[in-house]
Amino acid sequence: MDWQSSLIKNLEWSAEIINISGKQKVAEEIAAKVKDGDILGVGSGSTAYLALIAIANRIKKEKLNVKAIPTSLELSMFCSKLGVPLTTLFENKPDWLFDGADEVDPNNSLIKGRGGAMFKEKLLISSSEVSYIIVDDSKMVNKLGTNFPVPIEVFPQALLYVEKGLKELGANSIALRPAKGKDGPIISENGNFILDCKFDEIGSSMEKDIKSITGVIESGLFIGYNLNILVASNT
Ligand code: 5RP
Repeated sequence: MDWQSSLIKNLEWSAEIINISGKQKVAEEIAAKVKDGDILGVGSGSTAYLALIAIANRIKKEKLNVKAIPTSLELSMFCSKLGVPLTTLFENKPDWLFDGADEVDPNNSLIKGRGGAMFKEKLLISSSEVSYIIVDDSKMVNKLGTNFPVPIEVFPQALLYVEKGLKELGANSIALRPAKGKDGPIISENGNFILDCKFDEIGSSMEKDIKSITGVIESGLFIGYNLNILVASNT
């Protein structure tokens, strides 16, 4: 029996999608890779959302048997709205994954987590056979940290201990991410806080150094992963 509710049916993307022309191009490129029977890891953010729409159109038109494992509640609700069947990591391992990024450097290292979903994003990337990172050309940087801070998900009671550890690692600015539509800090999908953190230098060991602080659940640094980067120009 179906729920008599319009909440999912009327769901819309919550913000304006900037640089939509480049994002749309990589979204179509990713949708063209889907094969019948695929288990897909579905990343977060507006580029992943546009790719999901393009994939849902192919599923409907070609009657493809595809299942999705989303990295966020938001994309999971969009899978329901768009008729993309869901599965979980308890049952399936993704054949491949697509996800966006906030920054990509020349070594294909990333900053992710503007949407606060980096824990599940990293879990899915680590679990997938193949990962595609889909970005418009505004995301390409010479150095990580150019346009975005590094988001760090922190167990709430560990906040001050983690702050101390991050300062020891060279953080020059640490901000508790505020919520929108709720008083106080943002609460992640795992019930934690998020710190947005700037460093003068992000070295190759920084992801591991941050993760080694007790109380850090995950960071948005992805250094040295085996990633396929698809870039589309906004012009
Ligand atoms: C969310 C993410 C997103 O993939 C990243 O922020 C890119 O988002 P968009 O495609 O909207 O530019 O890491 O946690």
